[in-house]
Amino acid sequence: MDRISMTLALLAPFLAIVSIVQAQNTPLRVPAVRVVRFQVLYPNATLDQLSHIKKWNNAVKNSLLASMNFVDKHWRVCGNEDPTDTTCGKLHATGEELRDGSYLINSTFIAQRDPVRNVKGDATSTIFGVLNMGLRGGIFQYTNQLKILGRPSNLTFDEAFFCYPGAVLNNVDHCSLCVPGSYHDKNTGSCDPCPKGQYQPVAGKANCFPCDFSFTTLGLGSSSKDQCILECPPGHFLDNSTHGCEPCGYYAYQPVKGSMECIKCPRNKVALAEASTSLDHCVENCPPGEQHSLDGQTCEKCRPSYYKEKDAVICSRCPDGSTTEGEGATKITDCSMPLCPAGTFLDKETKKCEICPRGTYQESAGAVECTPCDANFTTTSTGATNSSHCISTNQCKTGEHKCHWLAICFDLPDDDNKPMFGCKCKPGFIGNGIECNDVCTGWCHNGGTCIKNAEGVPRCECSNSFSGNRCDEAKKE
Ligand SMILES: *[C@@H]1O[C@H](CO)[C@@H](O)[C@H](O)[C@H]1NC(C)=O
Ligand SMILES: *[C@@H]1O[C@H](CO)[C@@H](O)[C@H](O)[C@H]1NC(C)=O
Ligand SMILES: *[C@@H]1O[C@H](CO)[C@@H](O)[C@H](O)[C@H]1NC(C)=O
Ligand SMILES: *[C@@H]1O[C@H](CO)[C@@H](O)[C@H](O)[C@H]1NC(C)=O
Ligand SMILES: *[C@@H]1O[C@H](CO)[C@@H](O)[C@H](O)[C@H]1NC(C)=O
Ligand SMILES: *[C@@H]1O[C@H](CO)[C@@H](O)[C@H](O)[C@H]1NC(C)=O
Repeated sequence: MDRISMTLALLAPFLAIVSIVQAQNTPLRVPAVRVVRFQVLYPNATLDQLSHIKKWNNAVKNSLLASMNFVDKHWRVCGNEDPTDTTCGKLHATGEELRDGSYLINSTFIAQRDPVRNVKGDATSTIFGVLNMGLRGGIFQYTNQLKILGRPSNLTFDEAFFCYPGAVLNNVDHCSLCVPGSYHDKNTGSCDPCPKGQYQPVAGKANCFPCDFSFTTLGLGSSSKDQCILECPPGHFLDNSTHGCEPCGYYAYQPVKGSMECIKCPRNKVALAEASTSLDHCVENCPPGEQHSLDGQTCEKCRPSYYKEKDAVICSRCPDGSTTEGEGATKITDCSMPLCPAGTFLDKETKKCEICPRGTYQESAGAVECTPCDANFTTTSTGATNSSHCISTNQCKTGEHKCHWLAICFDLPDDDNKPMFGCKCKPGFIGNGIECNDVCTGWCHNGGTCIKNAEGVPRCECSNSFSGNRCDEAKKE
């Protein structure tokens, strides 16, 4: 079989493309493919004529095929699956000159099992017998090309059994199909279980199918796509009831992905994180009222409005609307204070929420005091919930003042939170600051011209017949 395997390797590509038709109940044992190799020796070949024949190797192959198809008309020797197949079991033939001047043709083909039958009767024989019979009858001088080689002297014969990919040879001439969940590994030559993350529902296959992206199997040898499960990341497990990935929680860990369960931390130890991935993450629990710091190195007190009881691992938030008096609470009953909403603060004496006074604000809930606005800023009302509610007390700057455009605004202290500012008309204008008018308006009488000095003080230049500060005196002749 070793001698033959080299030559038969030439057939491998053909074997690979033929697939066994799978019935619903595939038998797990099928006959192996019988491959026959025979060699015909021509001791008296006229070798110098061979060079005149173009494509000699093709000619050898086609001649052998013609010979074998002729034989097959009388004795069913070619192992064709399809009766109309004219390749005689994918017959392959090559020839070579030997050193002693003789010529040797090697040929392989997929053959019928012995005994082979004569098509016209009940006679049976073997392939070896039929080929020898043909040799004597001149079948290997069937074509003109072969005739050049002269009479063949003898024939050597070999056979081997092969399985299609997906099956392994056993009992010499039978193939065991790889069972569902396994595949035929070309390298090991055996049926191996599908690797994790793959499955094969059908027997006799040379490969397994990968699960869809982000899916995997629990182990090796899966035979159904149903065995593909969501591949949860390490620190998580696939919850059988929700079909989703859940973290291992604070009492377990899981180092590998694609798991359906987590590994419990050793007794009296708890996991550092909800999705721990290593035994190293299992540590001593912190005392009540404390939880592990993020790096797991120390225990830290629960923040205000959180508490942690004896068997818990992390601090829990107080029930809605309640909070603790301080940090490190150890019982849910420590959540005895009202959780004051933004804009209010907890008065620890009365245990009541009080509204933030004017000029202060509180953005978060659960505060025990309100934050004052910056200097010269205040709020327009009590209960402010945002620092942006603080506005400047300088109405001249904020533009809240109502001064005339010809007036100067000056800020005044906002006593009792009343916006206060003053307005004063600019030089050369008079009024209460809310209204300002030009001092020259109606100042000079009798057609006098009003002129303001640098300080805005008006002066009149009177016409000839009038005099006085405002030209209201008639000149005496
Ligand atoms: C023919 O068979 C002989 C004997 O096994 C071998 O040495 C030779 O290489 C073969 N030739 C071809 C072309 O296969
Ligand atoms: C080959 O030639 C030799 C010498 O002429 C002869 O004895 C022998 O029978 C021939 N062989 C065949 C197979 O014809
Ligand atoms: C066929 O001929 C070759 C070469 O003459 C010889 O070595 C071999 O033994 C012969 N085989 C048989 C089966 O007669
Ligand atoms: C998941 O549920 C199925 C059916 O409900 C059950 O057969 C299987 O054992 C469960 N697997 C695990 C890991 O709990
Ligand atoms: C607040 O306003 C007063 C009076 O206008 C002024 O003297 C003081 O510098 C202001 N303070 C700040 C921090 O702006
Ligand atoms: C406060 O107001 C600013 C500006 O309006 C806004 O961007 C911010 O989110 C507010 N903060 C809170 C805590 O509501």
